[in-house]
Amino acid sequence: MDDHVPSRRARRTLTSAAVLVAASVSACAPDVPEVPTWTEDVRPILVANCARCHSPPQLNDAPTYLRLDDYEGNDLELDGQVDPGCLPDVCGAGSSLSGPDTGGLALSIRINLDQDDPQHMPPDFDLSPRQKDIIDAWAANNAPKGPPLPGNREPSMELSGELRSEGTLLIGDYVIDDPDFELVTGQVIAEPDGGGSPVLVTIELFSGRGQFTWDVSDVAPGSYALTAEIDDASSVVEVDLGTVDVN
Ligand code: HEC
Repeated sequence: MDDHVPSRRARRTLTSAAVLVAASVSACAPDVPEVPTWTEDVRPILVANCARCHSPPQLNDAPTYLRLDDYEGNDLELDGQVDPGCLPDVCGAGSSLSGPDTGGLALSIRINLDQDDPQHMPPDFDLSPRQKDIIDAWAANNAPKGPPLPGNREPSMELSGELRSEGTLLIGDYVIDDPDFELVTGQVIAEPDGGGSPVLVTIELFSGRGQFTWDVSDVAPGSYALTAEIDDASSVVEVDLGTVDVN
């Protein structure tokens, strides 16, 4: 995320004859939707303001059991259930965090704290009143995910080159692209050819060029089919990454 792009764009708007238009647009900022949804209203706010810490790999001491770039989060047991108490799995923004809170409530509480409260989120600045109103209304309505964005186009993922190994690490370089420029996140799962439980390789797939690694030192020998599941919030796409042999 490049801080310079919006400010350059903002400067250009102000120096152009569009000042009046810009003023009238902001004067009629759209109302906060009665029931905001994750996909349309909330995710863009969290991607812009929270994901730099709260997206795996979590940075700046943000807790690893919470990700705010994703609605469901990652169920490390791969049983399709999000643990209501979240631990030890990775909770998404729409799951109930740390106990009996309904989805979204923990977010709403943190963003509305006094800015010098050490628990205020984000730690170093305040969301705008409108952004807070959207998150509050979303939480008050039980944090709905909402339908896919109309006309959404699916993300894609390609390996750039062959999977390779270095010692006990299997390494894949990839490019994830989205025609709508949405943030794309995702995970890689390895299914043993002979049956048995799938193994979670990584939950850290992210838009753009990246690399994932799989430490196979504790993985049972055999042949594994690798599949990526990539998600732009409106659609989840499965990508076949081929088969690897673990010796
Ligand atoms: C600069 C990094 C950073 C950013 C940006 C950030 N957070 Fe945090 N967040 C943290 C850290 C560190 C913690 C753990 C300490 C704490 O609980 O206060 C945390 C904890 C939390 C928790 C508590 C999780 C629990 O244990 O239940 C919530 C909820 C949360 N953040 C929401 C948000 C939201 C919403 C945003 C964006 C509006 C945001 N954070 C932006 C660093 C960040």
